[in-house]
Amino acid sequence: MNEAIDKMRKKVKKYLDKDRYIHTLGVMYTAGALAMRWGADLDQALIAGLLHDCAKCIPNDKKIRMCRKNGITVSPAEEANPSLLHAKLGAYLAAKKYHIRDRGILSAITCHTTGKPQMSLLDKILYIADYIEPNRAQLPNMAKARRLAFEDIDECLYMLLKDSLVYLNSRGLPVDPATERTYVYYKDYLKKEED
Ligand SMILES: [Fe+2]
Ligand SMILES: [Fe+2]
Repeated sequence: MNEAIDKMRKKVKKYLDKDRYIHTLGVMYTAGALAMRWGADLDQALIAGLLHDCAKCIPNDKKIRMCRKNGITVSPAEEANPSLLHAKLGAYLAAKKYHIRDRGILSAITCHTTGKPQMSLLDKILYIADYIEPNRAQLPNMAKARRLAFEDIDECLYMLLKDSLVYLNSRGLPVDPATERTYVYYKDYLKKEED
């Protein structure tokens, strides 16, 4: 890992609780491994993984205040579940506090919880790494997701989107419309027949 990334690692550690930091390192290295597999830029993937949850441990009311203060829109779904805001607030902090200018990294951080239609390779790598990193609690289909991530990245993405929607709907949790849009886009893109 280069010196600049290691400096960022030390800084982000101060803003995360222990479990979130361990998760963060898992996402960083998993994103790095996926970048090696799929030919993405390794440093971009490591930085995106390292910073993706940099806003996660900010209290929810503060997240909303920080978004409003800095002109970041808060949707009704985000108002109901402010934890969702950590993605766009994280991209804002990555630019502001960690001086990231790379639009690809900022995009990946912004869409890491919901995805978006027409995701870039880096967007997909971060979204998937966040789910499959080694410290994640076992999710349904985890073994398959971990294998697919290295075999067919779009199939992996689609399966994770679908599983997230099933999980949120089964628990009556709010679904961000962006997740729904991403799912519909990739269902069509991959010509899936199922509901
Ligand atoms: Fe996150
Ligand atoms: Fe995460």
